Amino acid sequence: MNTAIRTSQLRERIAAWRKAGERIAFVPTMGNLHAGHGSLVQAARAHAQRVVVSIFVNPLQFGPNEDFAAYPRTPEADRELLRTLQVDMLFAPEVEEIYPRDQQLTARVHVPGLEDILCGAFRPGHFMGVATVVTKLLNLVQPDVALFGEKDFQQLMIIQRAAIDLCMPVEIIGVPTTREPDGLAMSSRNRYLTAEQRAVAPRIFAALDRTRAAIENGARNFDELEQEGTKALQDGGFRPDYFAIRDANTLDIPSEGARDLVVLTAARIGRARLIDNVRARAS
Ligand code: PAJ
Repeated sequence: MNTAIRTSQLRERIAAWRKAGERIAFVPTMGNLHAGHGSLVQAARAHAQRVVVSIFVNPLQFGPNEDFAAYPRTPEADRELLRTLQVDMLFAPEVEEIYPRDQQLTARVHVPGLEDILCGAFRPGHFMGVATVVTKLLNLVQPDVALFGEKDFQQLMIIQRAAIDLCMPVEIIGVPTTREPDGLAMSSRNRYLTAEQRAVAPRIFAALDRTRAAIENGARNFDELEQEGTKALQDGGFRPDYFAIRDANTLDIPSEGARDLVVLTAARIGRARLIDNVRARAS
């Protein structure tokens, strides 16, 4: 596996692959890799001869009181996993490489309409930070395809929208969520859970899945379902930011005839903020 710390090293290698006519797939991450990231890498393999993974904890997407400094960094274990997965190139830049000037003054990418709702309402500036760094990384790697997890459903939609609106020559592909056997979505932030909190964490997926089943069995009172979901999480000791049923194609509040839905939640417990979602097909 090649490792590039500098963008010049990355560009050199990518240029050689391009010259040889090879397709390139890209998986951006913030490291502390788990099986969810692994599933993205495996999916990437099916799309290209070369797979590039980036590890960059992006300061621009963290709020002033969020966990940028505490975000788990496990470079050795990450490198080992990527080697096992036969990744061709790891791009692991320093902050100065990506933001050579004042971060606050960098050109930035906004996706109006999608960036301020749901998680965006609770994390101002977060999706601007995500869309900006992903655009920078896509410009550096210039992949044919880039893969993102459905676990971060709103993030995936924002990146898809940015890629289309800004005419980026890349196909954005979503990959289903990898879960622990008890249903908890894998996440680097699961590390923040105490044993007690970890024991109740599967209630997030359970509440989402109950809502999915109710919708698929014909329930149409979405306000009530959202309230029930919120209450189930509160009863489990969570502080939910939201529990919402939305149109899966737009993230809007579903219109009467909408069939393709998604149930999304973000809930805090202890020092962790966990997010998850499930798709639901209304009958
Ligand atoms: P990170 O949280 O490291 O996630 C990297 C990618 O892995 C994202 O596309 C995310 O959706 C996906 N992922 C995480 N957990 C997953 C799971 N359980 N199943 C499937 N996919 C999963 O998301 C980010 O980093 C950053 O915001 C980033 C896009 C890299 C921009 O900084």
